[in-house]
Amino acid sequence: MIQLIRGFKDILPGETELWKHIEKIATSLFEDFGFREIRIPIMEHTELFARSIGEDTDIVEKEMYTFPDRKGDLITLRPEATASIVRAYIQHKLYAADPVRKFYTIGPMFRRERPQKGRYRQFYQINAEAFGVGSAYIDAQLIFMLLTLFSRLSVTDAHAHVNSLGCPACRPAFKASLSQFLSSRSDKLCEDCRRRSAKNPLRVLDCKVPSCREAMSGAPSVIDSLCPECGKHFQILQDSLKKLNVDFTIDKSLVRGLDYYTRTTFEIQTGALGAQNAVAGGGRYDGLVKVLGGPDIPATGFAIGFDRLTEITGLKASDFEQKPDVFIAALGEKSQAAAFEWNCALAAAGVKAEIAFGDSSLKSQMKRADRVAAPFVLIVGEKELEDGAALLRNMATKEQVAVPLDKIVETLKAANR
Ligand code: HAM
Repeated sequence: MIQLIRGFKDILPGETELWKHIEKIATSLFEDFGFREIRIPIMEHTELFARSIGEDTDIVEKEMYTFPDRKGDLITLRPEATASIVRAYIQHKLYAADPVRKFYTIGPMFRRERPQKGRYRQFYQINAEAFGVGSAYIDAQLIFMLLTLFSRLSVTDAHAHVNSLGCPACRPAFKASLSQFLSSRSDKLCEDCRRRSAKNPLRVLDCKVPSCREAMSGAPSVIDSLCPECGKHFQILQDSLKKLNVDFTIDKSLVRGLDYYTRTTFEIQTGALGAQNAVAGGGRYDGLVKVLGGPDIPATGFAIGFDRLTEITGLKASDFEQKPDVFIAALGEKSQAAAFEWNCALAAAGVKAEIAFGDSSLKSQMKRADRVAAPFVLIVGEKELEDGAALLRNMATKEQVAVPLDKIVETLKAANR
């Protein structure tokens, strides 16, 4: 039997109900904050990701699903959505009338990481990106929006971690002092980090190899070398979070795995997922629109790991399971023909009905009605057809009432209102 690809997964009925519920709550909250949906393609030119996320990152170096298409163009299954949203923002000049635009998108991303709990090769993200606002207020607002969502979804174990990565004015001095620190420890670093430490030393701060983590203790932190502007920005972020009663931790080691960040970075972390403790991550990327050929417009955003979120929410798919409103138990050919028509008319009128296609005993049809948890069963046989009324049985109270055959759709529609 052909199995699915390692690290990929099916989301089955019984699970999709929870996914849909989360989508509904998230999109309505995001829309209340002024975000609008954007849908972007699943594949892009490889160069878009290489230039945005950065050539030296794990994602670009090791994890992208990249292949030549039939004409030899290099294309990549998107490992994240930010780069594509920036591309769309520039390509369609979405900044023209008003640079302030806020978007959200939900969909699958692809990274060829080592699969483990909470880490998949196809995973889903819920993204929100805000363009045109440089102020730290909006960063605080994004974090507040995330935590509001998590609380609406009964996530109890989620905590915000924040950091600032500075800007092109203060980054070079920090990079230089970090490089100097790294050169004194290069014998303790993994091969990747040794290679990256001169060109892109920030990436070393993000390395997951335990010996590198150890070697990095005592490394200089970006926060200590922020320029006055960035320092003020970071202070406003903290003050606004406090005003919003958001509990947060300043985490000097939070550099994130993508190169485009400037100033604010943040993650929502949880203790409920083992090693994969980030359930959402984001930050400001003020230089990216320009790097990708657009005007100099600041931007900030985040992505939630949708799969991880479903694993930590206190809600259960069974709370949202779809049940039929009525089961039609039909006995004999004529009743079955009538049941088939009612089934269609009921569904078209918004009433979920189930029938047993085919001839089976009343007992077995009642059993099935029970199995699908139908609250009502409409019983119709030769006698009911002759009498012109079917029996509607309330499965909880066992009460039965007669429903005229020509009133079935309207009676059930009214009962389900
Ligand atoms: P990221 O930290 O790479 O950021 O991913 C965001 C979230 O996606 C992570 O916190 C995690 O919950 C989830 N995630 C990442 N990789 C996997 C995986 N292999 N399996 C399951 N879940 C995963 C970004 O992607 C940025 N684009 C976020 C952003 C938006 N920054 C600014 N705007």
